[in-house]
Amino acid sequence: MGEVTFIFAPGKLADTVQTGSPPLQLGLPTFKLPYRNHLAGSALTTLRTGHISMDKWFLISNESDVSTPSVLLYPDRISQNITRMIQVVGGDPSRLCPHVKTHKLAQVLRLQIDQGINRFKCSTIAECEMSAAAGANQVLMAYPLLGPNVERFLKLQRLFPRTSFAAVTDNLTAFSTAANVAAAAGESITFLMDINAGMNRTGILPDQSAFALYRSLSQATGAKAGGLHIYDGHLHQSDEATRRAAWQAAIQPVLKLREQLEAAGLAVPRLVCGGTPTMAFWAGVPGVECSAGTPVLYDFGQPNNNPELSFFPAAVIVTRVISKPNAETVCLDLGHKAIASEMPHPRVRFFGLEAAEYLTHSEEHMVIRHPDCGPLAIGQMIYGLPKHICPTMALHQSVGVVRNGLCSDYWEVVARARKITV
Ligand SMILES: Cc1ncc(COP(=O)(O)O)c(C=O)c1O
Repeated sequence: MGEVTFIFAPGKLADTVQTGSPPLQLGLPTFKLPYRNHLAGSALTTLRTGHISMDKWFLISNESDVSTPSVLLYPDRISQNITRMIQVVGGDPSRLCPHVKTHKLAQVLRLQIDQGINRFKCSTIAECEMSAAAGANQVLMAYPLLGPNVERFLKLQRLFPRTSFAAVTDNLTAFSTAANVAAAAGESITFLMDINAGMNRTGILPDQSAFALYRSLSQATGAKAGGLHIYDGHLHQSDEATRRAAWQAAIQPVLKLREQLEAAGLAVPRLVCGGTPTMAFWAGVPGVECSAGTPVLYDFGQPNNNPELSFFPAAVIVTRVISKPNAETVCLDLGHKAIASEMPHPRVRFFGLEAAEYLTHSEEHMVIRHPDCGPLAIGQMIYGLPKHICPTMALHQSVGVVRNGLCSDYWEVVARARKITV
């Protein structure tokens, strides 16, 4: 039994990015996880033939070293997706504020920073901590800041003085409570006002009540008005023209609200907007920061929502055949504790078994039927693309990293925890 040590936010980063912030370095947690020979497998095993052909990009040569179920990431493809994201916003990385929820990994965030992206969106305090520790200049907590999270957020601001933090709000009582706590400590919190542009999940409707809320925010002690936040996850029509028309209708009142606020002398410094399906549309609105998250890893669900955007799948799930209860059926070690299962099947698309029928799915088992199941051997590794990569990542403590066809490294999914240190 070997031991792999994961050090969250390497010292190099802490030194270069957060100089003068000793608590960061003191607070670095070190994760020691027992892994059976995960890093030992440099010996190449023979590539399998059969259902999966030799030229497939996702195959690894050291399958026998990799436990299943597991997520594998392909950093070359991730970097190409990041380049493509920057192209979509016209070549200016400051037009991106990608959501980190998709990957929850400091290493992926660093790949984004390497290409000039330095502001990030988060939905948990742990994601905020990971992002700041990995070197983000700006971190937006795009989730209502309530209860003990107010204190935790303030603690982050103190721990990472080189990072600018902001949160979102859609409610006077909520932001006033947080602002009072901040003011009592001689501090302040920058809030972007969260707008409900039709998704009806969070946010305030872009009408006169939103104008009044933003004015109160601008005048509050302990709070600063930092702009507007809009997430339009309800817009995922596969036809681009239909989606664009729906998006245009949804954003008109928001753009009008911005005009009214500015006309009243209220600064609207930032607009952080959208997800993957509307990313290219928002890119056309000057000054908007696009907050798509999924393109970096991609999955097979997204192209249904935006077939016109071409990103590479950069995350694969691997599973093994664990039983063959009859001639046409195999059982895989891919239960719903290993793959996002909030949607109907197919929750994964297996390479070479695209016509699979999904029979049963339980905590640790997935049973599929396929006319070609016969030749599959017990213990054989099967590769697939998850339908929804974001929740899939949160189900895995660490993910394999594939370079040159070899799974040679593991990255801890550090922000899957609800709490890192703060
Ligand atoms: C608030 C918010 N912003 C941005 C995103 C990223 O969207 P996408 O996954 O389409 O890239 C999400 C996704 O759920 C979200 O909830």
